[in-house]
Amino acid sequence: MSETQNSGQKPEARTIELTVNGVSRRGKAEPRMLLADFLREELDLTGTHVGCEHGVCGACTIICDGAAVRSCLMFAVQAAGTELATVEGLADGETLHPLQQLFSEHRALQCGFCTPGMLMIAIDLVANNESLTEDDIRTGMSAALCRCTGYDGIIKAVAAYAEQIHGKSAHGNGADV
Ligand code: FES
Ligand code: FES
Repeated sequence: MSETQNSGQKPEARTIELTVNGVSRRGKAEPRMLLADFLREELDLTGTHVGCEHGVCGACTIICDGAAVRSCLMFAVQAAGTELATVEGLADGETLHPLQQLFSEHRALQCGFCTPGMLMIAIDLVANNESLTEDDIRTGMSAALCRCTGYDGIIKAVAAYAEQIHGKSAHGNGADV
């Protein structure tokens, strides 16, 4: 057991510097602080939601250095020097990001708790796959759980977004988007 543990004191917080949604940010985190908690509590970016804290539900998903990650499975100290994208960076002022607009049009959310994670997973999925089938979208979006919508609206919104980005449309199982 370490001296710090013996003394009953919390480990010393470190200063973390990173880029979030294109802006340089810094905050304090003790070594075991989760990245999700750092974003919400230290940087006041509460759009990233925390559900299970076990890497299962996907609500906490953000993009770290170009890849979707569960921010409940990373320590804040591991994100030092990285570039993060969170749901707060999607809209341009009052103008929704195209994927947010499609979620609205396709009624892809109800309570909205899962939505930040769903959006970030979808953006990563579409950005990294030029040719997506409907099955691909269903498999990709299964990385997050929704207790409200039944998923049909979510799948339709993501398919429409993929069509906007890559210029093809999804047609059933196995067909290219
Ligand atoms: Fe991170 Fe559920 S809160 S996966
Ligand atoms: Fe409620 Fe997905 S919209 S959990």
